[in-house]
Amino acid sequence: MKQKIIFILLLIVAVTLLVLFGCSLFGGQEPAVTQTTTDVSAVPETDGAPATADSSVTDESKTAARQTEETTAPTAETTAADLPVETTEQEEQTQSASADGSRTVGVSAKGYEIVEINGLTYVDGLLIVNKTYSLPSSYTPGALTSETSAAFDRMQADAAAEGLNLYVSSGFRSYELQTSLYNRYVAADGKAAADRYSARPGHSEHQTGLAMDLNTITNSFADTAEGKWVDANCYKYGFILRYPLGKEAETGYMYEPWHLRYVGVEKAAAIYNSGLTLEEYYGLTSVYD
Ligand code: DAL
Ligand code: ZN
Repeated sequence: MKQKIIFILLLIVAVTLLVLFGCSLFGGQEPAVTQTTTDVSAVPETDGAPATADSSVTDESKTAARQTEETTAPTAETTAADLPVETTEQEEQTQSASADGSRTVGVSAKGYEIVEINGLTYVDGLLIVNKTYSLPSSYTPGALTSETSAAFDRMQADAAAEGLNLYVSSGFRSYELQTSLYNRYVAADGKAAADRYSARPGHSEHQTGLAMDLNTITNSFADTAEGKWVDANCYKYGFILRYPLGKEAETGYMYEPWHLRYVGVEKAAAIYNSGLTLEEYYGLTSVYD
C-alpha cells in the first residue's frame, strides 16, 4: 500500500514536470517565429541583411522567412530602389520649374500642358502668341533670334540656288512699333476689320523674334514662284506658314502667305504633314478676352 502511494506520488510529479516542460517548449517557439518575422520585415531597412542567418531559427521558420522575403523583397526593392528615385526626380523637376517661375495654367484640347513662365506661354516647348496668349510689353529680344535668322539664311540660299529671291520685309517688331501699326490700322479700317489682319500690341508673333514677313505683303505673293516655293519648302528649314487660307476661325487671322513662324525643323515637319494650323495641331484657341 505504501509502495502504491509512493508510485502515485512519483507519477503525479512526473506528469507535472512533463506538463511544465511541454509548456516551456511551446512557449519558446512563439518568440522564435515572432523574431524571424520581425527580422524579415526589417530586411529593406538593413539592405537585405541576413535576418534569417540566426542558427536558432527552425527550418520551418526559415522557410516562412524565405517566403516572406520572396513576397516582400520585390516590393521592398521597388520601393527602395525605383520609386524613391523617380519621386525624387519628379520633385526636382517641379522644384526647378517653380524656381523658374513656371506654372501649368491649363491643358489644351489636345492634351498638351499650357505652361506660363514669366508671363510667356509655352506649349510643347514652343512660345505661343496669338489672340488668346500675349507677351508682356517688356518682352523684347530686339531682333530675330539667332536660330530664326540662321534658318532663314539657309532657306534664302537654297531658294537663290533655284533663282528665287527671298527677303525679310518685316522681322522683329517691338511692342511699341506694333502699337503704332495697330492703331494706324484701326484708324483706317476700324477695330473689327483691323483685328482680322493686325495683332493688338502684345499679341503679335513679330514681338517674339521668331516670326517674319517675306517679300511683298500682299496675297499675290502666294502666286509668285517665291511664294509657291516657300509654301512647299519652308518646313524643311523649321518654318510654318502661320496663317493659311481659310483658317481665320482657327488662327484668328486672315490668310497671310508671307508670314512665317520658326518652330524648329522637327515640329515644322510634323505640323506641315498634319495639314493643320498651329492652333489646331496643339488644340489651342486664338480669341481675345
Ligand atoms: N499680321 C499679324 C497677325 C501681326 O500683326 O502680327
Ligand atoms: Zn507677319
